[in-house]
Amino acid sequence: MKTYGLLCALIGFFLLSCLHTQAAIDGLSPPVYPSPMGGMINGEWQAAYARARELVKGLTLVEKINITTGTGWMMGPCVGNTGEIPRVGFPSLCLQDSPTGIRMTDFNSVFPAGLSVAATFNKNLMYLRGRAMGQENRAKGINAILGPCLGPIGRAPEGGRNWEAFGSDPYLQGVASFQTVQGIQEEGVMATAKHYILNEQEHFRQQLPWVEQFGFRNLTDAYSSNVDERALREIYVWPFADAVRAGAASVMCSYNQANGSQACQNSYLLNGVLKDELGFQGFVMSDWGGQRSGVASVLAGLDMSMPGDGVAFGVGNSIIGANLTIAVLNGSVPLWRVDDMATRIVASYFKVGQDSPTYPEPNFSSWTFADQGPLIAGAAMSNDSRVPVGTVNYHVDARGSLSSQVVREVATESIVLVKNTRNALPLRAKSLALIGSAAGPAEDGPNACPDRGCNNGTLGTGWGSGSANFPYLVSALDAITPEAIQRGITLDFHLEDYNVNPSMAALADAAIVFITSDAGEGYISVEGNIGDRNNLYPWYNGTDLVKAVAAVNNNTIVVIESVGQVDMEPWIEHTNVTAVMYALVAGQDVGYAISDVLFGNVSPSGKLPFTIAKNLSDYPATVMYRPNADAPQINFTESIYIDYRHFDKYDITPRYEFGYGLSYATFDIGGFTMNHAFGAITTETPPMAPPYLKSFFMDDKVPSPESVVYPDDIPRYRDFLYPYLTNWTADSIEYDRTAYPYPAGYSEDQPEAPSPAGGGSGGNPALWDVLVQIQAKVTNTGSVGGAEVVQLYVSYPEVEGVEFPVRAFRGFEKVGLSPGESATVNFDLMRRDLSYFDSVSRNYLLPRGKYTYWIGNSSRNVVDAGSFYF
Ligand SMILES: *[C@@H]1O[C@H](CO)[C@@H](O)[C@H](O)[C@H]1NC(C)=O
Ligand SMILES: *[C@@H]1O[C@H](CO)[C@@H](O)[C@H](O)[C@H]1NC(C)=O
Ligand SMILES: *[C@@H]1O[C@H](CO)[C@@H](O)[C@H](O)[C@H]1NC(C)=O
Ligand SMILES: *[C@@H]1O[C@H](CO)[C@@H](O)[C@H](O)[C@H]1NC(C)=O
Ligand SMILES: *[C@@H]1O[C@H](CO)[C@@H](O)[C@H](O)[C@H]1NC(C)=O
Ligand SMILES: *[C@@H]1O[C@H](CO)[C@@H](O)[C@H](O)[C@H]1NC(C)=O
Ligand SMILES: *[C@@H]1O[C@H](CO)[C@@H](O)[C@H](O)[C@H]1NC(C)=O
Ligand SMILES: *[C@@H]1O[C@H](CO)[C@@H](O)[C@H](O)[C@H]1NC(C)=O
Ligand SMILES: *[C@@H]1O[C@H](CO)[C@@H](O)[C@H](O)[C@H]1NC(C)=O
Ligand SMILES: *[C@@H]1O[C@H](CO)[C@@H](O)[C@H](O)[C@H]1NC(C)=O
Ligand SMILES: *[C@@H]1O[C@H](CO)[C@@H](O)[C@H](O)[C@H]1NC(C)=O
Repeated sequence: MKTYGLLCALIGFFLLSCLHTQAAIDGLSPPVYPSPMGGMINGEWQAAYARARELVKGLTLVEKINITTGTGWMMGPCVGNTGEIPRVGFPSLCLQDSPTGIRMTDFNSVFPAGLSVAATFNKNLMYLRGRAMGQENRAKGINAILGPCLGPIGRAPEGGRNWEAFGSDPYLQGVASFQTVQGIQEEGVMATAKHYILNEQEHFRQQLPWVEQFGFRNLTDAYSSNVDERALREIYVWPFADAVRAGAASVMCSYNQANGSQACQNSYLLNGVLKDELGFQGFVMSDWGGQRSGVASVLAGLDMSMPGDGVAFGVGNSIIGANLTIAVLNGSVPLWRVDDMATRIVASYFKVGQDSPTYPEPNFSSWTFADQGPLIAGAAMSNDSRVPVGTVNYHVDARGSLSSQVVREVATESIVLVKNTRNALPLRAKSLALIGSAAGPAEDGPNACPDRGCNNGTLGTGWGSGSANFPYLVSALDAITPEAIQRGITLDFHLEDYNVNPSMAALADAAIVFITSDAGEGYISVEGNIGDRNNLYPWYNGTDLVKAVAAVNNNTIVVIESVGQVDMEPWIEHTNVTAVMYALVAGQDVGYAISDVLFGNVSPSGKLPFTIAKNLSDYPATVMYRPNADAPQINFTESIYIDYRHFDKYDITPRYEFGYGLSYATFDIGGFTMNHAFGAITTETPPMAPPYLKSFFMDDKVPSPESVVYPDDIPRYRDFLYPYLTNWTADSIEYDRTAYPYPAGYSEDQPEAPSPAGGGSGGNPALWDVLVQIQAKVTNTGSVGGAEVVQLYVSYPEVEGVEFPVRAFRGFEKVGLSPGESATVNFDLMRRDLSYFDSVSRNYLLPRGKYTYWIGNSSRNVVDAGSFYF
């Protein structure tokens, strides 16, 4: 019971978070109906759809609905568990956090977070990290990873969950998204691209938690992110297109509103953009409690409610589940929509091969570490003695050799060296002092705070549902100690942030100062930061700490362990601050990574996945900390000009720009060549995709009320969500196809052709045509080995009435080279990379005129490498 007490304290946040008033059903987004059926696109999903239709066709209504609704909070081993279909042997699906490791269990890895793998700019590592995550999740019997996280993209640098995603550029997010989804799904695990969409800050993402927990009493709704059509496609939807292209099984809709309507019931965004334009063939699941309406969400394209309890966790009510049974029987929801919901889920299951007899069942419990316990933890909370008891934790060690390789390599390649003067690094010092609490372990261990909701000692992850339990956490002190011993270096340390010992700091040849900045999900507040960071200053007076050490030691090296940008202006130009490196959110091996780079065992090769400004006011956007209305309205007025695009547009000199990072080697980049891809179609408007395949109706009849009544042999645990109705409820339903107040623009005619931007997984297949190929030659001109990230940016022709970024990031390749060695890198520019979204024709247009391509090693250090015309 103690375990539950503790958990309930945690879960309390969720309970509050879910009592919610109904939001506006229709917003500013235009209505798009009906929800396009899955399986209408010819391609790699067809085989899975054929099998799924065969299975779903034979199911009863309550069986279909069981697949679409979670069994309720804590009503199974995982954070989300769907109903099973014992009659045909279709299992309950286990859905589990997180994008950095498996949450709420043991013997798992804590991988470098999304932001860190983005900083490697290494496609193969992105892919291998996905593979390793897939292997671990599979070993634990998880069907769907609740990741990768592709939003927030980091429009506001303080955004609490920026670290979970892949940095502040859509192209970089897109590549990382594609690689990660491929890696995860090749291991047979479903990937969940989240959070769809515009969930760029934690403050006010939901209404009630922010009223009850944090005292914003006037809030009537979650905030609405309001964005123009072009920024929606070119910035925020972009990485989701890559996930869909990679075959992502699932997309999770977010808590916030988008253009005035809840993300999980926004027909424009779900039916229109996701299922039609992107041709998404998997299923849409709600964020936990993100579903805000029943019939409206289902018609708008939601396919699965998680964790099943719609409005409040743990009280036994679902707004779909049994209510969906009612909604079919009363005629409000057409049966084909339920068939489609179930088919999309079952097709995803077949697509990744989870019907394999070797696919494990869940072998852990999210709710306890004990070996034995109730098999349905939530049902046992009401002291129901009927709940079976058995082994709930088998403590399977999910970590394999790929995991340990990836955890370390990603961490090492993610270190970004931003300053290195007077040959400070690699270290030549004979005596070292490590200063700051983040250099060492936390007093109470790496897992002291639930969901890592504190910032003590080494920072290896942010907090919230995107975290996991550390199997161990290597601090810089842990890793540097054996290196120092081996090299005969003396090592002293002071793991304090205040009152540094000046003589100790002064005596060492080099003083290495560790500072941090932490953030996480908004259900936990850490030192007054409610998810989002309150500011970009390092925590625990890191600024004063650096200054105090630099005042006494002329070789002060700063290591920043941070979820994002930090303000370094007060000391970055200090002559005694000789080197500065970023460790971002590097996971369990962060100390090894820092040590290997400090000592030069490895040349640093990470690049900043965001821009660091000199002044806070230089950033294009910030978090809204005080609601500007009872239903806060966040207008994304900067449109497509986020991060470096903003600095370029307004000619603001940043401290360090997107793509920037130093090496111990030096590189020469040149030898540019370009050719038009043979046979490519380069019309302004892309060729249309083929029409949709015929929609597939299972043509069942609405079942009889008798068929949905609770069977006698079902235990009916309290608060467990069943699809059945009581005899009384079933008897009282009247069927009327016209009674529901359908939204304006509602229709049930399946489209015969995709919209112009659609037609394939990820959008119109023509958008993925390679139109131009560019080569560059990179040579290591230094005296040590190292890796360089060759980056390609594009400038667009002039188009009347259309603005373009000064340059847009459109390619990168990382190459490792020995001294004197050269390599040629290739960039394929696709139609998508060279087009803009035209909101009038709702299509991507390839502008006519001169394009310039820029090549270099950061968003500012580029040369005009050539041009081409269409
Ligand atoms: C959002 O609303 C604005 C203002 O009404 C409108 O211009 C824009 O097209 C809408 N965007 C989407 C994605 O619906
Ligand atoms: C629905 O799922 C529950 C829980 O997994 C299961 O007990 C029940 O038998 C399922 N109902 C049907 C109709 O398959
Ligand atoms: C809430 O609304 C009241 C009445 O309009 C207003 O006086 C008060 O300042 C508001 N409180 C907050 C926290 O915005
Ligand atoms: C339907 O949803 C309402 C609102 O959440 C809830 O009160 C009710 O119990 C649900 N009905 C069933 C049969 O689950
Ligand atoms: C049909 O049932 C659903 C679920 O309970 C409900 O939301 C909807 O309003 C009902 N339709 C009508 C016309 O009453
Ligand atoms: C650990 O972190 C918490 C929250 O960040 C802080 O309040 C506490 O003082 C820290 N404990 C130690 C021992 O530093
Ligand atoms: C942090 O530094 C500022 C300025 O030096 C000082 O005013 C403040 O008291 C310090 N905060 C703590 C917690 O020591
Ligand atoms: C740099 O460090 C030296 C000690 O090595 C100190 O004397 C000097 O004042 C420091 N410079 C600054 C600008 O603080
Ligand atoms: C720091 O000062 C010492 C003593 O003056 C000098 O030998 C050393 O070269 C200086 N270090 C750096 C990095 O400038
Ligand atoms: C957001 O944009 C809308 C539509 O342009 C405008 O009416 C509203 O005043 C803006 N809100 C804020 C807070 O700027
Ligand atoms: C409810 O029970 C009554 C009495 O047994 C029966 O006549 C009726 O058909 C049942 N209704 C349903 C929907 O099962």
